[in-house]
Amino acid sequence: MDPGGKVVVVTGGANGIGRALAHRFAAEDARVVIADLDGAGASAVAREIAAAPRGHALGVSCDVTVDAEVARLIGATEDAFGPVDLFCANAGVAVGQDPGTPDEVWDLAFGVNVRAHVLAARHLLPGWLERGAGYFLSTASAAGLLTQIGSAPYAVTKHAAVAFAEWLSVTYGDRGIRVSCLCPMGVNTSLLHHGQSTDGTDPGAAAAAAVVTQTGAVLEPEAVAEVVISALRDERFLILPHPEVLTFFQRKASDYDRWIAGMRRLRSRIIPS
Ligand SMILES: NC(=O)c1ccc[n+]([C@@H]2O[C@H](COP(=O)([O-])OP(=O)(O)OC[C@H]3O[C@@H](n4cnc5c(N)ncnc54)[C@H](O)[C@@H]3O)[C@@H](O)[C@H]2O)c1
Repeated sequence: MDPGGKVVVVTGGANGIGRALAHRFAAEDARVVIADLDGAGASAVAREIAAAPRGHALGVSCDVTVDAEVARLIGATEDAFGPVDLFCANAGVAVGQDPGTPDEVWDLAFGVNVRAHVLAARHLLPGWLERGAGYFLSTASAAGLLTQIGSAPYAVTKHAAVAFAEWLSVTYGDRGIRVSCLCPMGVNTSLLHHGQSTDGTDPGAAAAAAVVTQTGAVLEPEAVAEVVISALRDERFLILPHPEVLTFFQRKASDYDRWIAGMRRLRSRIIPS
């Protein structure tokens, strides 16, 4: 898929990877809707894009975990630019630690990292199937293929995001629906910085940040957006800005017990008991 001239929605577009994606799609002459809980931030990114020659963008305040707000987002996009060609389910939260994490925190992780993708697909699929075309980009994480040391809610919900993206592709691929799943390790955004600056108040996030910074390069969001553009052109399912994630994933599949033993050793280095 060539994003040129397409109508693109990016959730979580006020910051980090989403903001970089929005700018990168706009540079391809896409018309971009930036949706975020941070409505002022979404509008600011839209203004940055609209200020450029041939830039077309709209910022929308939206909680992607609420069905009616997702419906409103898609409606606002259609009113402004026409039907959605590419939906980037990118908003995400890295919260919680273990089974003792309060239910509302588990629910938040499921809501933003998984249910938001289901809600978007629910509203987009009827039109996409009628037109025989539509592209769903899921921002999951390397944690969705491997695990997230320090955060069970993140590991579990990112696995679920990968599973949902796979399922969409298997189920609708023959009817013109394309799906890609972005699975980075560390990216230089506020999500990672939060983990680096918790001062002991969020040990799960601190451990998660330590793992990603110690096991691979921390990429700039713009570099991730560049990899995404090229993967979308090839319509590749799995998008891995850190290529070593493929090796880790293959090792996991080929010898699960050995992989788990290695992850335990890594965990005990990061979180001494
Ligand atoms: N930064 C990393 O190291 C990293 C690694 C792998 C995957 N990811 C994933 O990348 C995606 C983007 O994260 P980021 O690193 O750019 O973080 P970020 O915190 O910079 O951006 C996340 C954005 O999502 C928005 N958001 C959160 N809850 C929302 C909701 N309910 N409705 C609408 N918007 C909401 C936030 O306001 C924020 O603007 C996430 O899904 C994250 O899990 C990040």
